[in-house]
Amino acid sequence: MNAVHSMAETAGAEPALGAARLFGPTLSRTRGTTGTITVGIVGATGYAGGELVRLLLNHPNVRLAGLHGRNRDNQPIATSHPHLSGSGLLIDQAVPEADAIFTALPHGVAASMAAQIVARGTALLDVGPDFRLHNPADYPAWYKFDHPAPELLAQAVYGLPELHRAEIRTAAGRSTTIIGLAGCYPTATILALAPLARAGLIGDLAVDAKSGVSGAGREPKADLLFAEVNESVKAYGMFSHRHTAEMEQELQEQGERGVLGSRDANPGVATVDFLPHLIPMTRGILASCHVRPTRPVTQAELDAIYADAYRDEPFVQVVADAPATKHVYGSNLCRVWCRVDPRTGRILALGVIDNLVKGAAGQAVQTLNVLFGLPETTGLEQYPIAP
Ligand SMILES: NC(=O)c1ccc[n+]([C@@H]2O[C@H](COP(=O)([O-])OP(=O)(O)OC[C@H]3O[C@@H](n4cnc5c(N)ncnc54)[C@H](OP(=O)(O)O)[C@@H]3O)[C@@H](O)[C@H]2O)c1
Repeated sequence: MNAVHSMAETAGAEPALGAARLFGPTLSRTRGTTGTITVGIVGATGYAGGELVRLLLNHPNVRLAGLHGRNRDNQPIATSHPHLSGSGLLIDQAVPEADAIFTALPHGVAASMAAQIVARGTALLDVGPDFRLHNPADYPAWYKFDHPAPELLAQAVYGLPELHRAEIRTAAGRSTTIIGLAGCYPTATILALAPLARAGLIGDLAVDAKSGVSGAGREPKADLLFAEVNESVKAYGMFSHRHTAEMEQELQEQGERGVLGSRDANPGVATVDFLPHLIPMTRGILASCHVRPTRPVTQAELDAIYADAYRDEPFVQVVADAPATKHVYGSNLCRVWCRVDPRTGRILALGVIDNLVKGAAGQAVQTLNVLFGLPETTGLEQYPIAP
């Protein structure tokens, strides 16, 4: 039994690790003769890139083959990430040769580099949004750029292993392997709602979410200065936040895979009402999902569908008490909680993650493990940090 398993049990959730889920994928990318996967990180100077380096330095099957940063030449990693100075790594502007490349770049940049990366047979795992949306027309609509590689987009798999493990394994066996890793708000929201979507229970939906400031990246912006953010909470992205598109795509698909077998099974996910807020903290996302169900439900029914959905998931903990971002800080865990209000009949589903781990770098490592046939928890077994 490993550490993550023990955590799930102490949190009051069902035992979380199913052996079948951890071992024996039907397809995987080939590791080197020593069992080592060589990995490169493009955009290593940013927050998500730095978190990837931190996690991968402790991954027993990974060797970091190179770190890319624009306009950098043999630059010690300490220049960008002082906390990682002990690694002795250098950052360069060459895109490394490796079995897998993680891109952690602003939207539009990874899509323009993708063809060059996958042409070498390298698996591409994009932490940004360039390969998340299936419909190329969604990119000009939500991201204001025309996708430069729609033929590659057509081959990409949405990188949320809890919902797409089988497709990730299938993608591993292809000559072109591209994963569009799930966004941070969508990870917390979709994991909180997927069991309801599969049951066809989402009649109407409003998602009210809060994020720490690292979610905005490290590029300097006036509205992210300490004096602007501290002791203040603000809503932003009203009616237009880009992550809305991912939530609609994935929750509609869960309806199709669920009991009613239809993308229209949940009227509330046709157009999701999503309102994000910036909170004066560094890491963490809380998604509060307010659902008017399609029919009356009991708490016993909700308990059963959530236990069934996540019983074998190593990183999703269904908890009995309302979760807080502190409960998952620094870990790859997502905690979910779901209750029906007996007075109003509405359902409240909560999801919390660390945006830089389960919302970015941890999810990326979890997906790498699936692609290369490793136990999914490899390199990700650390407990959350507290207080
Ligand atoms: N932060 C999160 O919680 C989070 C979670 C999930 C997904 N994401 C996504 O991950 C991606 C990276 O986010 P982040 O928070 O790490 O951002 P960040 O801290 O701002 O880092 C961005 C990285 O991209 C590089 N970069 C910027 N423009 C570039 C260009 N034109 N060409 C090449 N490199 C360029 C930056 O290099 P310089 O150092 O030279 O500026 C830096 O390495 C984004 O797409 C974001 O949406 C972020």
